[in-house]
Amino acid sequence: MKLGFETIAWGPSGGVRFLDQTLLPEREVYVEVDSIAEMVEAIQALRVRGAPLIGISAAMGLVAAAGQQASRVTPEWIRRAVSDLGTARPTAVNLVWALDRMQSVAEESFRSGAGPDEVIASLRSEAQQIWDEDVRMCEAIGAAGETLVPDGATVMTHCNAGALATGGIGTALAVIYAAKMAGKNVRVVSNETRPLRQGARLTSWELARAGIPVTSIVDGASAAVMARGEVDFVITGADRIAANGDAANKIGTYGVAVLAEAHRIPFYVAAPSSTFDLSLTAGDEIPIEVRAGEEIGAAPGADTFNPAFDVTPARYIAAIVTDRGVLHRPYRKSITEALT
Ligand code: MRU
Repeated sequence: MKLGFETIAWGPSGGVRFLDQTLLPEREVYVEVDSIAEMVEAIQALRVRGAPLIGISAAMGLVAAAGQQASRVTPEWIRRAVSDLGTARPTAVNLVWALDRMQSVAEESFRSGAGPDEVIASLRSEAQQIWDEDVRMCEAIGAAGETLVPDGATVMTHCNAGALATGGIGTALAVIYAAKMAGKNVRVVSNETRPLRQGARLTSWELARAGIPVTSIVDGASAAVMARGEVDFVITGADRIAANGDAANKIGTYGVAVLAEAHRIPFYVAAPSSTFDLSLTAGDEIPIEVRAGEEIGAAPGADTFNPAFDVTPARYIAAIVTDRGVLHRPYRKSITEALT
């Protein structure tokens, strides 16, 4: 499916080129970075965002930065760069998942006696592989999830789990794109997603460009829209899924899942294998990013608390759509069988 924009690419000057998502939808600006500090800033400021995309960006950023100073690339340089990138944001496990792979490739390459240029070449090939795999996982999520979409469906989503959040066609939105490709009529209700408005700014932009009818609503309208009987199912992405199926995603997702349960509307989560963290037994172990209170826009003098993610307990999740198929309860069993 052609979406008419390029979320990420290798830049013409040897850096990583990406669409600066903080400027959407008003301005479509591509920037190129080639240092660890710039990539860390881009991830923290959400210029690149979405769990799979930050893993891909960090891997590519490591390659670009190493290429700028090949003679200084030692095992110690790699360790420090991986640590700086890996701590840029704490919740999405895809970030450390991708960087662990990069670190292993570098170590293996150094161990075999490779010089800096060969190490960098092997890192570039691994970063490309991480990206290519994500493209395939998005396609597979779309193919698996499309079977859940009735013709004429209205689907609610929260935040942005589309092409802007991945290296491919997205996770939750891959299901929508695949349904459209299969000839189904589908329309989307996009929750605004306060405070950074990924739903209103990004999901609506992406879907409108793909020619998919999208209705933007404020977060507070989700219950009312469900109560009108206008939502067939809800589907969101995830940033980290524990072994029992508890899923962290953008703040507000948990509330939407509870509302869906109250209205007897299925709530689905879509995520690639790289988003599962089987080292965590349950969602309360997932680290939750707390961002600057200024993002809320409260009156000066008020205290703020601005968690960027919440955890939806598995009991509210009707199915998890993955690149390995659609998983059902009990999740501890279905996740283990699908992923190990
Ligand atoms: O803070 P963000 O914009 O990076 O949060 C993104 C989300 O919560 C997405 O839903 C999630 O990463 C899944 S992306 C396929």
